[in-house]
Amino acid sequence: MRVLTGIQPSGDLHIGNYFGSILPMIESQNDHEVFAFIANYHAMTSVGDGERLSRLTMQAATDFLSLGMDPSKATFWVQSDVKEVLELYWILSSFTPMGLLERAHSYKDKTAKGIASNHSLFSYPVLMAADILLFGSQVVPVGKDQIQHVEIARDIATKFNNQYGDIFVLPEFRVDENVATVPGTDGQKMSKSYDNTITIFGEEKSQLKTVKKIVTEVVGMEEPKEFANCNVYNIVKLFLEESDRIALQKRYTSGGEGHGHFKMYLAQVMWEYFGEFRAKRLYYETHQDEVREILNAGAAKARAIAQPIMEKIRSATGIAY
Ligand code: ADP
Ligand code: TRP
Repeated sequence: MRVLTGIQPSGDLHIGNYFGSILPMIESQNDHEVFAFIANYHAMTSVGDGERLSRLTMQAATDFLSLGMDPSKATFWVQSDVKEVLELYWILSSFTPMGLLERAHSYKDKTAKGIASNHSLFSYPVLMAADILLFGSQVVPVGKDQIQHVEIARDIATKFNNQYGDIFVLPEFRVDENVATVPGTDGQKMSKSYDNTITIFGEEKSQLKTVKKIVTEVVGMEEPKEFANCNVYNIVKLFLEESDRIALQKRYTSGGEGHGHFKMYLAQVMWEYFGEFRAKRLYYETHQDEVREILNAGAAKARAIAQPIMEKIRSATGIAY
């Protein structure tokens, strides 16, 4: 099964990103054909500073490689290194009714928040459809906010196929209901928009400072404590094996320890969990040329899939003459 994911290079990754999307993607490399790319053209809709965008693109590549993206198993590249996607974006535009884009929630939400409306924000789903269709993707794992975009890709592909024959694979979205929403330090969904994140690669001291900010119930030290609704427990449990979870639950219900102890435990568990990834990241940070080579090789692999599909499209549409 061919599974495709696009990642916006939008800054420091947090543990919500890790459990909600990175870990499932890393795990699926073993039994699926994983296509993953850094969506730097898409990021232009929000990052208007060239130096920053190129830095964030390399940072995203470095982070994903450090967290287990394996270029010998998956195809991993930067969107702008496979230019065919822009050609397809234009071709698909002729199969995209205006109404389809006008109904897009993400566009409506962004403009409602006061983000200036421009053509790239409006046509964002068409480029996303090109990303998906260019590689014959069967499944696109997404968060709930992106479901509609995959449906738009499917609608565009259907319209195109009706006119020119069965060229595109019709993609399906997949929302993993087993993946819990990771709470942030304030108990809301962890999100960089809410300023409540715990980053994956922060410094030890600042990680501890963030963990100490997690909102908890006020209960006396000796009192037994609830674990099920505790923000600290609901984060730390993601890192623990069943037996360690049970042991921690006992510590909560027995009393005698305060939330400060559980916070220290979370900081320590998290620091150990990401230890091997930090070491890899240090390596890649000091070997950025190697990261570039991996990305170039990934783009070549991606292009080898995209080109025959693109030739079929050019031929069917009469662009090849
Ligand atoms: P943010 O909300 O911080 O802007 P993004 O929208 O960039 O995060 O999310 C990137 C990926 O991480 C998406 O697949 C999203 O579903 C996942 N993700 C983000 N926050 C969480 C969370 N708190 N819990 C689970 N998954 C999350
Ligand atoms: N729009 C996606 C997001 O904001 C990123 C993305 C771009 C994407 N192209 C894609 C995701 C293709 C899946 C498939 O998260």
